[in-house]
Amino acid sequence: MVRKGRFNKPAAEIAQRYGESVSFDWRLYRYDVTGSIAHAAALARAGIITAEDRRKIENGLRAIEKEIVSGKFEWDPSLEDVHMNIEAALTNRIGAAGANLHTARSRNDQIALDLRLYVKAEIAEVLSRLRHLQRALLGLAEKHVDVLMPGYTHLQRAQPVTFSHYLLAQIETFQRDASRLRDCLARTDVLPLGSGALAGSTILLDRECIARDLGFSRVSQNSIDAVSDRDFVCEFIFCLATIGLHLSRLSEDLIIWSTSEFGFLEFSDAFSTGSSLMPQKKNPDMAELTRGKTGRLYGNLMAIMTTMKGLASSYNRDMQEDKHALFDSVDTVRSALEVFAAMLPELKIYHERMQAAASDPNLLATDLAEYLVKKGTPFRKAHAIVGNIVAQSAANQIPLNQVPLAELKKFSPLLDREVAKIFNVSSALAKRTATGAPSPKNIAAQIKRWHSNLELTDESA
Ligand code: ARG
Repeated sequence: MVRKGRFNKPAAEIAQRYGESVSFDWRLYRYDVTGSIAHAAALARAGIITAEDRRKIENGLRAIEKEIVSGKFEWDPSLEDVHMNIEAALTNRIGAAGANLHTARSRNDQIALDLRLYVKAEIAEVLSRLRHLQRALLGLAEKHVDVLMPGYTHLQRAQPVTFSHYLLAQIETFQRDASRLRDCLARTDVLPLGSGALAGSTILLDRECIARDLGFSRVSQNSIDAVSDRDFVCEFIFCLATIGLHLSRLSEDLIIWSTSEFGFLEFSDAFSTGSSLMPQKKNPDMAELTRGKTGRLYGNLMAIMTTMKGLASSYNRDMQEDKHALFDSVDTVRSALEVFAAMLPELKIYHERMQAAASDPNLLATDLAEYLVKKGTPFRKAHAIVGNIVAQSAANQIPLNQVPLAELKKFSPLLDREVAKIFNVSSALAKRTATGAPSPKNIAAQIKRWHSNLELTDESA
């Protein structure tokens, strides 16, 4: 019998099937190849391999990468993972030179490297898709810049705003997601290669040079920590879950506003589905699915956090499980952002319905109270006075803006003819000039600000 290193029998087939990861980590091939090319260059610089072998390794790896891209590469599950598949294919192709590639490297620092390269690339991709979504929101905000609508709290009519103010709020939200991703990027941008299994190697490679080759801005400072650490995966999955959270809230708003009860907007046919039973139905499935997928994004976050909990330090095989959660969250958010960026510009907005709802005089009850405050009434007292007026107007079924002045005077002598002017939504908005408030002037300025922000910022910043 031929011994295979320390083992005197091969892994049982069910154990191989149970342990293999190549069926999903093959996706990392590009980063595995790039990482190996940089590693080979470092080995050559250190005099461990010849320049000729380095060249063979690089060419071999590039040829393998091409084969993978073209779909011709045959992945072998008995070789367990993407790393060993590529390494075995390299040795097949170039012979002895390939057998030197894994010098001073372990799959522990190799997978950490591949994952970091992958997460860095995906952060850039998600950032770019976020920006597209923000641009779509900005486009809508410009197109419907003057459209008044009620603002809601507790999903009850609260105070007037404009539709563009709402849209600008979404842009702010997604900007926080972008900045969170950039924070995550800073902690992901660390080269783990050179940490070996957990204790580095007696063969010295120039790690700073490898980092430069691979575009990392820092080098990990402790080899145990470098192979232990999956914080960047957890954080990225958290960032993605938070984008899901925000998309789910946007979805919910749009779904509600598309009901006949609201009638504020309509989804394009291209992003709606019918009912298999009810011929009249047009359902906002894309928004519903996005709301629903957010549950899975949270599931992935819980999965990775739980996998990492209580793990002994350095590498443990449990960590192979990080990939399902990571890949699924990336795929989900990438497609959700793409769908939303395409779906939003096609929304039909029903201005009249929004404006009609915004003309509910009760939306200006707070403004009436503030009018009394400006005349010297303490706010709590003004609040109670207007509350009483609202109650009486409801009981008598007289709209708040049509209660006769004589009646109003019974509640407060400070209420005078000027009160009539309060019940004008446009002028109510024009008065809201503090930073962040929805005066048309502010909104115009915000639109301008986002225009230059979203155009100027580098996509991968
Ligand atoms: N497939 C493994 C993973 O995803 C790669 C690292 C394996 N390392 C090891 N020592 N078995 O984590």
